Amino acid sequence: MSGFSAEWLALREPADHRARNVVLRDQMSDLLRATSRLNGERVRILDLGCGTGSNLRALAAFLPQRQHWTLVDYDAALLSQARATLSAWADVVSCDGDGLAIEKSGKYIDITFARRDLAAGIEEVLADPWDLVTAAAFFDLVSPDWIARFCNALQAPLYTVLTYDGVERWMPPHRADQIVLDAFHLHQVTDKGFGPAAGPAAIALMNTALTARGFQLSLAQSPWKLGHATQALMRALSSGAAAAVAQTDKVSTDVLDSWLVARKAATSCEIGHWDLLAIMGN
Ligand SMILES: C[S@@+](CC[C@H](N)C(=O)[O-])C[C@H]1O[C@@H](n2cnc3c(N)ncnc32)[C@H](O)[C@@H]1O
Repeated sequence: MSGFSAEWLALREPADHRARNVVLRDQMSDLLRATSRLNGERVRILDLGCGTGSNLRALAAFLPQRQHWTLVDYDAALLSQARATLSAWADVVSCDGDGLAIEKSGKYIDITFARRDLAAGIEEVLADPWDLVTAAAFFDLVSPDWIARFCNALQAPLYTVLTYDGVERWMPPHRADQIVLDAFHLHQVTDKGFGPAAGPAAIALMNTALTARGFQLSLAQSPWKLGHATQALMRALSSGAAAAVAQTDKVSTDVLDSWLVARKAATSCEIGHWDLLAIMGN
């Protein structure tokens, strides 16, 4: 099991879908439509760290009519929840061996579920002929070394969304905001299974490595803008941050408790993310 519960992923999914940058999404959509016109086949998409399949649910409507998704995660419980959630989301479901074949709003989507630890052997996964490699809320978990390996092995267009950039603005402000955020960032760069994590540096590292490989990059911000309608997510976010900060021993319990009480009553917050589209140069 990973540190991500299906409940947490379900809570964040609507905010994630709203935050995605539409300009980059439309560029990716044009690219995949062109690919499908060219080869006349279903597009083959690899989703890294798929959780319960939120990325597929966000993107299917913007992709060609026939799609084959390979959803990869190392968490068996999340993969099993992905199958259940995607089946419930579909208009028509037919099972296809271990995978799933679904129809949704006129799209025909075949899904393969792959349980795999991506910390090992990413090169093998990327060696298959993908039309698109994608991931949502994933790249801040991996290490700078893993990013270098990934970028070296990438042979397909990459579309990755919602990579955390470390910028947070909570209203009303609290006197401990900065020390809590600094401690949270220390936790962000601890090992999440790939070696010490890149955390908020991930997008800059990917930008440098992919540009050096000759990919053409587009980058755009995709912040969560949370408020009254997303109180439950803001509260869960504050509790999660406080638990992470407590593990660092950098903020006294009194200060952290007072910060958490204030944050649970916050009226709004903005959490910075970036989306990235990388297309192979000619
Ligand atoms: C923040 S969640 C994002 C899930 C999903 N992409 C979404 O947008 O809802 C990160 C995901 O990465 C997966 N993950 C973390 N480390 C992994 C590893 N070493 N191999 C495969 N998946 C991993 C977790 O199980 C989790 O599903």
